[in-house]
Amino acid sequence: MMHSAHPLQGKQVVVVGGSAGIGLAVARAARDGGADVSIISRSARSHDGLSGIAADVTDTSSLQLAFAQLPQRIDALVLTSGASIASARLNAMNMADLHQAFDVKVFGYVATLYAALPYLDETASITLTSGLLARKFNAGGLVKSMVNASVEAMAKVLAKELAPRRVNVVSPGITDTDAWGSATAEGRQAMLQKMGDHLPVRRVGQPAELAQAYLLAISNGFMTGAVLDVDGGGLLV
Ligand SMILES: NC(=O)c1ccc[n+]([C@@H]2O[C@H](COP(=O)([O-])OP(=O)(O)OC[C@H]3O[C@@H](n4cnc5c(N)ncnc54)[C@H](OP(=O)(O)O)[C@@H]3O)[C@@H](O)[C@H]2O)c1
Repeated sequence: MMHSAHPLQGKQVVVVGGSAGIGLAVARAARDGGADVSIISRSARSHDGLSGIAADVTDTSSLQLAFAQLPQRIDALVLTSGASIASARLNAMNMADLHQAFDVKVFGYVATLYAALPYLDETASITLTSGLLARKFNAGGLVKSMVNASVEAMAKVLAKELAPRRVNVVSPGITDTDAWGSATAEGRQAMLQKMGDHLPVRRVGQPAELAQAYLLAISNGFMTGAVLDVDGGGLLV
């Protein structure tokens, strides 16, 4: 069977949260696969010729303005935006952090999908981003578990509601992005190395490895309602 070097040739791909980390890796991989890629994020940062449009997923009117500027047909919509939230147990919970996490990743995803709906092709794919803690329950993981489990529930409902459009989820494990911030690059690498040592693959993930899963969800026309765990075996430990 022949495989095209440009499997996404001619496809319009929009990555919300595509200015950094996993989203930027998805945008690059889709562009390398031949797609026309647009990035939406608050900062509208541009990378490698990928130009960004500014919108905040917590601001519905900014989302509507952003989608109105994009090509009027979207073949693949990818959502990777997320707030950096510190882990906290219930007795130390900062309610503002809890609201922020839901605003960006749960209500923000719903608002983004609502704004994008008029432009989504009948055969479009939608790929959301959850996270390891959606189905791994650690003390201190309350906010991340609730938020990411909500994203997975959202995807399964919408896979039925928006059919024949396809809706899937990529669930990253610990991945080396700026979301792990740290005072210094060395400090971050040391911290990630330590976390990676506990995983079956003995290291954390790279954004490009996550991007491969998004490309699978975009391009496999028989995949919907699926959650792709790309976590170095993190669910097993
Ligand atoms: N990295 C990990 O270890 C890990 C693990 C599990 C799950 N995840 C999930 O994977 C996704 C991507 O994570 P990442 O590590 O790649 O994060 P990241 O490097 O911090 O990138 C986050 C992206 O989201 C955008 N963004 C943040 N808030 C936004 C808002 N209100 N409106 C619009 N865009 C917004 C950011 O751009 P601007 O700042 O320009 O807005 C940036 O493009 C997140 O949903 C995260 O929860 C990551």
